[in-house]
Amino acid sequence: MDSRTIGVLGGGQLGRMLVEAASRLNIKVIILDTPPNAPAKQIQATQTHIHGDFKDPYKIRELSKTTDVLTVEIEHVNTEILETLMNENTVVVHPSPSTIKLIQDKYTQKIHLSKNKIPVVDFIEIPTKDDLSIAIEKFGYPLMLKSKTLAYDGRGNYLLRSEDEISNALESLGNFKIPLYAERWTSFTKELAVMVVRRANGEIKSYPVVETVQKENICHLVIAPAQINGVISEKAKDIAEKAVLTLEGAGVFGVEMFLMNDGHIYVNEIAPRPHNSGHYTIEACETSQYENHIRCILDLPLGSTALKVPAAAMINVLGKSNDLQETLRSCAESLSIPGATIHLYGKQDCKKDLPTMKPCAEILKSFDVPFELSIVSAHRTPNRM
Ligand code: ADP
Ligand code: NA
Ligand code: MG
Repeated sequence: MDSRTIGVLGGGQLGRMLVEAASRLNIKVIILDTPPNAPAKQIQATQTHIHGDFKDPYKIRELSKTTDVLTVEIEHVNTEILETLMNENTVVVHPSPSTIKLIQDKYTQKIHLSKNKIPVVDFIEIPTKDDLSIAIEKFGYPLMLKSKTLAYDGRGNYLLRSEDEISNALESLGNFKIPLYAERWTSFTKELAVMVVRRANGEIKSYPVVETVQKENICHLVIAPAQINGVISEKAKDIAEKAVLTLEGAGVFGVEMFLMNDGHIYVNEIAPRPHNSGHYTIEACETSQYENHIRCILDLPLGSTALKVPAAAMINVLGKSNDLQETLRSCAESLSIPGATIHLYGKQDCKKDLPTMKPCAEILKSFDVPFELSIVSAHRTPNRM
């Protein structure tokens, strides 16, 4: 298919699913991440992967020596060295390091989006405690306090409900060691997401608008397509594509959005990589987000993003560190749901325990989506998505 080799910064589950897609195209992938048994390294175990930090410039340079195209499965990488390597013309980098850098800082990202007339909720920088008072005066309670950088799975967010919580909030966000900003609390009716893919030649396509439900800030459920009217759906797709057009580079981008009661849509944030809300595309779409990401960065023809089933759902199963057997039993039981697929990530630990989840079958029955055929991707994911 293609003799080029792809280097991926990050070896988590998104990397693992990228490798799965690349394998079918017989495209070689080399992973850079610290654990020798990182989820993505387990798939092409015959490959010589690199054991090291995806923030380490020397390791990233080493990766570039044996690869033709570099990409990321996590945005918290070292963008300076990626920029340097790109300018040295020894490797192609997608998406562009400037895009990754912009997105790494949620505040800069919001400034960029609002400058480009993409609707976002009101936000304000919080360099000191005094600025927090200004934000509270402006937005009232509750208020979303966020770390500008290094945030994922809600780590870095604090929902500030009252004055009593201020010192706790600041403490838990590191007392300004990581810079902060605040957002107006949004009482959305639904959270939506659109995966947009852009080929290196500029061609753009998007996947169906999906509905996402987060539990404790972590993606819990995805319903595809979103159960919303066609006009809203078109609008969401439009905003997502416009937002991605303001960014440079090829690849798949996950655009997270808030849908308000009155039909207003705000962009929450953009991920410059495959996204947890797009896992369902593996089984439910003609081409998965992972395969299309590979096609994008290698400048190969894009695959269709259409659903091949009427509706699909993805449930994110989080492992319980004190009872892995229970987690696995719930996954095994869900195999009896027609059309269900399980993806286990091969992670070694659970970084965060969530309250016990209902069995997948029960969750599916509990919401009234008229599935003619349902696909469940149960993703056991103790840490980042
Ligand atoms: P992460 O980087 O962890 O994905 P997000 O900023 O996307 O962090 O926030 C995680 C979740 O918190 C969102 O999916 C949404 O459910 C909720 N959230 C974030 N910002 C707001 C806001 N301004 N108003 C209401 N809910 C929010
Ligand atoms: Na190279
Ligand atoms: Mg998010």
